[in-house]
Amino acid sequence: MSRIYEALQKAESERALDKRDREPRTPEQVAAPTPPSDFEPLAQTVVAEAEYEAPAPAAPVRPRYAAPAAATATNAPLDLSKIERRPWSPAFAQLPSLLHRGSAVEQFRSLRSRIFELRDVSPLKSILVSSGMPQEGKSFISVNLAFSLARHKNSKVLLIDGDMRRYTMHQILGCESQPGLADYLAGKAGIVEIMQRAEEMPPTDSSNQPAMPNLTFIAGGNGGDKAADLSGSPRFGDLIRQASPYFDWIIVDSSPVLPVSDAVNLARFCDGVLLVARGGVTKFPIAQRAQSELKAAKVLGFVLNAVHEPPQVGDYYGYDSTNE
Ligand SMILES: Nc1ncnc2c1ncn2[C@@H]1O[C@H](COP(=O)(O)OP(=O)(O)OP(=O)(O)O)[C@@H](O)[C@H]1O
Ligand SMILES: [Mg+2]
Repeated sequence: MSRIYEALQKAESERALDKRDREPRTPEQVAAPTPPSDFEPLAQTVVAEAEYEAPAPAAPVRPRYAAPAAATATNAPLDLSKIERRPWSPAFAQLPSLLHRGSAVEQFRSLRSRIFELRDVSPLKSILVSSGMPQEGKSFISVNLAFSLARHKNSKVLLIDGDMRRYTMHQILGCESQPGLADYLAGKAGIVEIMQRAEEMPPTDSSNQPAMPNLTFIAGGNGGDKAADLSGSPRFGDLIRQASPYFDWIIVDSSPVLPVSDAVNLARFCDGVLLVARGGVTKFPIAQRAQSELKAAKVLGFVLNAVHEPPQVGDYYGYDSTNE
C-alpha cells in the first residue's frame, strides 16, 4: 500500500470523525506531498490545516485593459522595469504562508525545503501545479508556495495562472485578470505586458510584506472556449524560456488534468509537476489517474492538502518567519 493511499485514507477517516466531533469545522490544512508507490521519491511535506475563515471576497476588480496590437514572440531580452505596478488587495485569509509564524507557515516552508532538495538533484525552476479533479486546492497551493518561495532569501518568483478556463488567482491577489496568459498565447500581448507587480502596500497585521515585491504575476486572461487550443501553443514554451533567466522560480497554477487536457499541454514546458490531492476528498484511483495523465512530464510528487492535525513541529521549535 502506497504512502499516498495511506495518507488519503487516514485523512478521510479523520475527516469523518471531525465532522461528528466539531461543527462547524475549522478551515482545512494543507497536507504533505506523498508520492504513490511508483512515484519518484519526492517531497513529503505535511502542511497543516490553515486556520482561516471562509475565503474573503476579493476586492472588486476593475477591467481597464484594452488589447494591444498583435504581438509576436521574439528572443529579445525582457525589460522587467516596464512591468506595470498595480493596486493589489490580497485576500490574506487565503494566504496563510504570509503569516509571521504558525503551522501553515511551517508546512509551506517544509514543502519548499523538499523542492530545494529536488533542485539539488536535477535542474528545477518551473513547476506546474495540478490535480485530478476541480477544487482540490491547486490554486491555494500554487499561490502560497509562490509566496513561501519569495520569502526565502528574497527569491524572485513568477506566478502564472495557467487555468485559462477558471482563473481565480487574481481574486486571491485582488488584482486585475487581464491582460493575462491567454492574451499572450493568442498573440495579442507581449510577455512584459501581461506581467504585473503589486504597488507598495501599507503593512498589515496579517501579512509579511517583504514577499510581495518579489512576486511577479501573470493572470489567466480570458481563454474561454479557446483555452484548449491556447494551452497547446508553443508560445507558452517561449514564455517560460524567456522569463527563466530573470526568476529563481516559476510556479504555474493549472486546471485539473482529468476533465481537460490544458494542464498536460502546459506541463510539457515545465521542469516538474506537483500534484495536489485533497484529504478526505480525493480518491486514490483519481490520484493515480492524474499521475498517469502526466506520464510525459516529470511528476515531482503529491501535496496532500486540507488535512487535519498535521505535525506541529514548527510550533515546537517556535519557528518565526523573520528568520527566513
Ligand atoms: N488547505 C486549505 N485550507 C482551507 N481551505 C482550502 C485549502 N485548500 C483549498 N481551500 C479552499 O478550497 C477551495 C478550492 O481551492 P482551490 O481554488 O485552490 O482549488 P482548485 O483545485 O484550484 O480548484 P479549481 O479546479 O476549480 O481551479 C477554495 O475556496 C480554497 O480557498
Ligand atoms: Mg484553481
